[in-house]
Amino acid sequence: MKILFIASEGLPYSKTGGLADVVGALPKALAEMGHEVAVLLPRYRGNKIGSILVSSVTVTLGDKLRFPAIGEGPAVAGVRYFFVDDRGFFDREQLYGEKGADYPDNAERFTEFSRVAIEFMKRVWLPDVIHCHDWQTALVPVLLRTQHAEDPVARALPVVFTIHNIGYQGIFSQSVMRTIGLPETFFTMDRLEFYGRVNFLKGGLLYADYLTTVSRRYAQEIQTPEFGSGLEGVIRGRADRLFGILNGVDYSVWSPEVDTFITQNYSVHNLEAKKADKKDLLQQFKLPVDKLECLERPVVGIVSRFADQKGFDLIARVAGDLMKENLTLVVLGTAQPEYEKLFKDMAEKYPGRVGVKIGYDNPLAHKIEAGADMFLMPSRYEPCGLNQIYSLRYGTVPIVRATGGLDDSVQSFDPKTHHGTGFKFEAYDGRALLDCVRAALKLQRDPKAWQMVQKNGMAKDFSWKASAAAYVTLYEAAKRARIPRVAGTSKG
Ligand code: ADP
Ligand code: GLC
Repeated sequence: MKILFIASEGLPYSKTGGLADVVGALPKALAEMGHEVAVLLPRYRGNKIGSILVSSVTVTLGDKLRFPAIGEGPAVAGVRYFFVDDRGFFDREQLYGEKGADYPDNAERFTEFSRVAIEFMKRVWLPDVIHCHDWQTALVPVLLRTQHAEDPVARALPVVFTIHNIGYQGIFSQSVMRTIGLPETFFTMDRLEFYGRVNFLKGGLLYADYLTTVSRRYAQEIQTPEFGSGLEGVIRGRADRLFGILNGVDYSVWSPEVDTFITQNYSVHNLEAKKADKKDLLQQFKLPVDKLECLERPVVGIVSRFADQKGFDLIARVAGDLMKENLTLVVLGTAQPEYEKLFKDMAEKYPGRVGVKIGYDNPLAHKIEAGADMFLMPSRYEPCGLNQIYSLRYGTVPIVRATGGLDDSVQSFDPKTHHGTGFKFEAYDGRALLDCVRAALKLQRDPKAWQMVQKNGMAKDFSWKASAAAYVTLYEAAKRARIPRVAGTSKG
């Protein structure tokens, strides 16, 4: 099957969060299964392309014309990479915005990207199925089913749409209808209108053939007002076409046996070696390593976007009590200033016990996975979450709130049966978090039991194989859902 991924970020070219890990790894897994896979991305600053395939595509945005190009970069692991190249729109400092503010022209930027994606399919690489991701590509199914509805090639193209996070919807003022070039008849409640504004994601949810999200539990959650961010009704209306497929892990990048960023590689057979990574981690954060107690004190790690979703307000509520426990906290993250301040203040208040790095630092993220004893994710909501799954493989025991993919990927350790891979709490509450951390610390004092929970986690297999096969089943269903392509019209 020819599968085209259309996404706003993807490794190895661009990344702000887990979407990029998925767009990096799932195509690779599909290519390994023998499918022909291509990924279309915006060409951001620093992305190198080998050749220009189409030097100019005319895109109308309201009363303005733009002329992006389409290029191709080097193939990676059997996957082809194509780019929409418009320097004015994408050659910028960041992907979506700077200093906490979105770029004001995001509606235009991703409308152009979606429009060029359709041209790309017609002129360069015609797939059997399209896989779109998040609001930035939600206009692809909308445009295919409306403005291209009479085109026999476009009409036959099935679209699978994955929701990585329903909290980000691409909501803009009504005036962008003109920019997008959609008629006002689309500005209705059963189409793109959302409380008086335009909602890109809503369009994608309504017009895609199949919807997926990144865990089973999140697929249930987004049908409720608590988690649906206002789109729960739309999701419920399409529940028969919605599937939860848990993200996998690229173990060639994220496993302690082969990780190239860590000081000491190790495996389930020589867990002792993990201690060298712990020492290195403490040194990276300029935390003391001179006394045995510093080296033995459990290290709790955090690597995260600092967003409300991630639940750090719970830490703020119980920071004092948390730091009364015998633990060291190491934190890597950036985004909302209030959380940056929270952790910086903690580092100042508990010198030698809290290490903080504000910023984005991939090698350090690997060092935390390897060097920490526990990994904390107290998310308010979490569609899938990847770091807890990485942690499992590194023998770094996850402590998570039981929501979305965190709940689906971590099993609570039961000291009686010795089953389970981590620690979970239910209530969105500081006390519940504290009790859960205390339970983990208590178990950690029993080395035998602790090794058991570590090894249970390390033995789990979250490779992409099973999830990629689930996507293929869905791609096939999406193909069947479309009318057959008219003979003689296909290209490529
Ligand atoms: P989300 O996509 O909501 O941010 P995920 O857990 O799915 O959450 O994925 C986050 C990804 O981004 C992981 O690969 C994680 O290691 C990485 N990451 C997040 N913050 C940072 C950071 N400050 N530095 C380096 N990597 C980070
Ligand atoms: C989103 C979610 C995260 C998920 C990632 C990849 O960014 O917040 O939970 O793991 O997408 O699907």
